[in-house]
Amino acid sequence: MTKVTAYTLSLALLMLVSSCKKEETNLVVEDDKYHLSVPQNMPAWVDDVDNPLTKSGVALGRLLFFDKRLSGNNQLSCASCHQQQLAFSDGVALNNSGVSKQQLHRHTPTVFNLLWSNTGLFWDGGSTNLESQAFGPLTSLDEMAQNLYELEAELKAVPKYRELFDQAFGNGITSANVAKALAQFQRTLISAGSRYDKFKRNEGTTLTELELQGLKLVEEKCKSCHQGELFTDNKFHNNGIDGSFTDDLEGLYQGRFRVTFNPKDMGAFKTPTLRNVMLTAPYMHDGRFATIDDVLAHYSSGIKSSTTVDQLLFQNNGQLGIPLSSNQKEAIKAFLNALTDHELITNKTINNPNE
Ligand code: HEC
Ligand code: HEC
Repeated sequence: MTKVTAYTLSLALLMLVSSCKKEETNLVVEDDKYHLSVPQNMPAWVDDVDNPLTKSGVALGRLLFFDKRLSGNNQLSCASCHQQQLAFSDGVALNNSGVSKQQLHRHTPTVFNLLWSNTGLFWDGGSTNLESQAFGPLTSLDEMAQNLYELEAELKAVPKYRELFDQAFGNGITSANVAKALAQFQRTLISAGSRYDKFKRNEGTTLTELELQGLKLVEEKCKSCHQGELFTDNKFHNNGIDGSFTDDLEGLYQGRFRVTFNPKDMGAFKTPTLRNVMLTAPYMHDGRFATIDDVLAHYSSGIKSSTTVDQLLFQNNGQLGIPLSSNQKEAIKAFLNALTDHELITNKTINNPNE
């Protein structure tokens, strides 16, 4: 028999007392433990207690992420919209490649560094965690439009899946386990291999004068929201792209308000990371800005006033906006280029395993 650590064993026993069902899922076999190596400049990370990383779980999640069987018409996978070469975004403002061919109402975000995303997923934080998030795209008619019973049947017909599900979870092919495996794989998608990272970690990389100037500007003017090494505070702000928030679309344009019903959250969206942003155009929750120049023009001279526009966007003189000269814009763009992680987009351990 394989070894089990004292910790997982006692945890498993604890679970056994509280719930007979859960014991199998938490019993991680030592040989199958996945040791995630987190680069030194990145924040600390604690594994998920209910869905700890395993080698079999991550490998399974990778297969599933790229598998078109996951959609009702077997024509699209998670990776159809979250494409590795675009840092797991899709390059269009609003995707219409879902099963219904209807245009989505929100722009596709990236899915890397989500192991640190602890304030909810989606642009409004409306989904609690990766384990529940996957049911959104899987069942949405405008995305994968999948019947979960059919999905289980389709996967059960594949011997490789039967084997991996058994190894990873020990309790068979269920849609909950599909979501868990997808969550595990996504938690291994770490982006911290850019030139900026190598500079920060003293790995023999230097940044140019212009890039350093851009770094300084971003620290001064953007880092109140695009914070720390993740370049996001994982919080919700109204960054002034709209001035009014009338809404007839289930609150989708009202941002965080849709989730909290707090008037202060009207028009607030989750701060996206600045990492790999040069690969992930178009920008914002609805993909309204085609280029990074449009984004910088917005912050510099296009911010719209409203009662909820973020206080951080006011200057000392009470005026709205973050004035930027054209030289400063060039410097910021140079720095943003240094945040592009070529390792992430070419890494063959996270690409389509069938290619
Ligand atoms: C048709 C395109 C499409 C497909 C297919 C798709 N997604 Fe997405 N994904 C999106 C869009 C659009 C959003 C943003 C939704 C929102 O915020 O309301 C999103 C958001 C996410 C997020 C939240 C990221 C964050 O930072 O909050 C995760 C995680 C995610 N998708 C994973 C998946 C997984 C796993 C699958 C496969 C089961 C999948 N997606 C399939 C388009 C897609
Ligand atoms: C008050 C907080 C705040 C400040 C300050 C701020 N941002 Fe943002 N930023 C946001 C939020 C929130 C969004 C997403 C808004 C949306 O989609 O509706 C965003 C979106 C972006 C995007 C689009 C990313 C994507 O994936 O779509 C870029 C690029 C960006 N900001 C760059 C900057 C730069 C450069 C600065 C400094 C000049 C800056 N931001 C200052 C909060 C802020």
